[in-house]
Amino acid sequence: MKTSRLVSVFLFVYAIILSIGSIICKDSNNLVTNQAALFVFGDSLFDAGNNNYIDTFSRFRANLWPYGQTTFKNPTGRISDGRLIPDFLVFSTYMATEYAWLPLIPPNLQPSNGNNQFTYGVNFASGGAGALVGTFPGMVINLETQLNNFKNVEKRLRSELGESEAKRVFSRAVYLFHIGANDYIYPSLFANSSTSQSNSKENYSGLVIGNITIAIKEVYKIGGRKFGFLNLGAYDCAPASLIIDRTKIGSCFKPLTELMNLHNKKFPNVLRQLEHELSGFRYALHDYHASLSERINNPSKYEFKEGKKACCGTGPLRGINTCGGRVLGPAQGYELCENVTDYLFFDSFHLTEKAHRQIAELIWSGPSNVTGPYNLKTLFELK
Ligand SMILES: *[C@@H]1O[C@H](CO)[C@@H](O)[C@H](O)[C@H]1NC(C)=O
Ligand SMILES: *[C@@H]1O[C@H](CO)[C@@H](O)[C@H](O)[C@H]1NC(C)=O
Ligand SMILES: *[C@@H]1O[C@H](CO)[C@@H](O)[C@H](O)[C@H]1NC(C)=O
Ligand SMILES: *[C@@H]1O[C@H](CO)[C@@H](O)[C@H](O)[C@H]1NC(C)=O
Ligand SMILES: *[C@@H]1O[C@H](CO)[C@@H](O)[C@H](O)[C@H]1NC(C)=O
Repeated sequence: MKTSRLVSVFLFVYAIILSIGSIICKDSNNLVTNQAALFVFGDSLFDAGNNNYIDTFSRFRANLWPYGQTTFKNPTGRISDGRLIPDFLVFSTYMATEYAWLPLIPPNLQPSNGNNQFTYGVNFASGGAGALVGTFPGMVINLETQLNNFKNVEKRLRSELGESEAKRVFSRAVYLFHIGANDYIYPSLFANSSTSQSNSKENYSGLVIGNITIAIKEVYKIGGRKFGFLNLGAYDCAPASLIIDRTKIGSCFKPLTELMNLHNKKFPNVLRQLEHELSGFRYALHDYHASLSERINNPSKYEFKEGKKACCGTGPLRGINTCGGRVLGPAQGYELCENVTDYLFFDSFHLTEKAHRQIAELIWSGPSNVTGPYNLKTLFELK
């Protein structure tokens, strides 16, 4: 008697688990067919942990406390105290479509990737990456390699979903890029690069933008139609840049300013040209340079107390990135601010979660003079 009651209770619980299971499966199938995926390419602004899985130096990784202290409570590889822009965009996507849960977009190299997760999107970004292979060579996943990794995912999805379903996933997906800043940061701050010195500024930005264009066209060839771009953020005025000239601490690093301004001036023209050249090509361009420099210069308007000093690091403005206990030349040991929500920058080059949330909102639903001609919300809604 006792045993059979136990069995029936067990069966009853088992049936509940089964029906919950089938509801979840049904929802996730709907998600696969109805939800546009997000594929992410770029640098440390977007890297959700890929650099944890490559052979590189610790300065290119954020697998140390206090990175990740705010939301995840442990370091995930995101180079911030918490969530990044793509994490907030995915959240907005699910809000917009009333789905109960969309998983965070996993880093491509994370070994635990389940097959289905790939249809929500994949993150290929790598801290330090540029559009040129000569930018931090051998230490990062450059744009070309990110694209090759995307092509591997493409093959996998084609075989798992079949040609027509995979095609649907690729054409409905949004492809998000922030790339190029390191192509200018590397030669001006970290190396005596022969490329940048033997080339005029004009030619050099032509190379960088040319290679971004190649990547866009490759994605388009695979079936991508909806693209999101951030122009280059004002990293010439990040804490690390503000302390390069020790006689003028607090002024932006001019050589970098010139290069980035030239890039940002040319890039929108290239996108307009692509719009004419590639039928069905739709894009959102967020003026990240403006939104970031606004916050650096008027922190209190955006509920920050500090726009120029990093939360974590050492030296003037905590602009030397020893955050987490890295040793950088003679610099070691780090200070950590008490209240990270007072800060725009978490470390010498990277923003706080609070800043990422604000920027993500501008990308998601900004008016067309901030993010245009589409914003991410309207891109996601396009059939
Ligand atoms: C530009 O990208 C192509 C492939 O996409 C790569 O082969 C080439 O080396 C890159 N150019 C530079 C200067 O890095
Ligand atoms: C750059 O060049 C100078 C002089 O040629 C040299 O002293 C310095 O170590 C070089 N720096 C890097 C990062 O290669
Ligand atoms: C820039 O590129 C043009 C055409 O490719 C070339 O003729 C010129 O020499 C280059 N300038 C520099 C400074 O490298
Ligand atoms: C941190 O700062 C924010 C905004 O200035 C404030 O609302 C919050 O209470 C502070 N938290 C702590 C722990 O002091
Ligand atoms: C965008 O346009 C609105 C109104 O048309 C204006 O209030 C706002 O300042 C503009 N923003 C920027 C960044 O130009």
